[in-house]
Amino acid sequence: MLETALHYSHYLLDKAVKTGDITIDATVGNGHDTLKLAHLVGSTGRVIGFDIQEQAIQTTLEKVIADGFKSQVDLHLSGHEEIGSLSLEDESVSAVVFNLGYLPRGDKSIVTTPATTLEAIQHSLPLLKKDGVLLIMVYYGHEGGRNEKDAVLSLVETLPQKDYNVLRYGFINQVNSPPFLLAVEKK
Ligand SMILES: C[S@@+](CC[C@H](N)C(=O)[O-])C[C@H]1O[C@@H](n2cnc3c(N)ncnc32)[C@H](O)[C@@H]1O
Repeated sequence: MLETALHYSHYLLDKAVKTGDITIDATVGNGHDTLKLAHLVGSTGRVIGFDIQEQAIQTTLEKVIADGFKSQVDLHLSGHEEIGSLSLEDESVSAVVFNLGYLPRGDKSIVTTPATTLEAIQHSLPLLKKDGVLLIMVYYGHEGGRNEKDAVLSLVETLPQKDYNVLRYGFINQVNSPPFLLAVEKK
């Protein structure tokens, strides 16, 4: 009955993202969130995806084409810190999604890092429209993961309550650094 953090993040996307919306997948990986967002925004919407690994972008592009979503998905082989270079207006995006850590079934030494993750989150916040969400799935079991977790928590915990609702969702009795979700909603 209790949803996993990942399932709960998709429940929030279902509520926040409408046909025609602009959305961002900041860590494309194997493309699960990209495809989810592409389905939700439809052919009139847009999903802008970032990953630093060619393998991730290529695999996801193949899935996007196979599922008929090519028109609404724009994948960038570059770091999510480039979100600040997108020509998007402030308050124009309904969802930004991050999955921290390494690419499942990929090179476990290539992980998201505190400095670039924080930079990308800072660039993302002004882009959120009212009721838009910034969702961060925090995987932190790998080397350096705890530093990134603490840095991200320090940032989102101090976002002003008058502008954002910030929620942490995850199981607290599981072993092995269970992932949790941080959800930031623009008021
Ligand atoms: C946990 S995986 C993402 C999982 C993905 N959401 C999925 O559906 O499979 C994290 C991804 O972040 C990517 N990554 C690491 N640093 C990055 C950066 N600075 N900008 C964008 N992606 C980055 C990694 O290459 C990896 O593919």
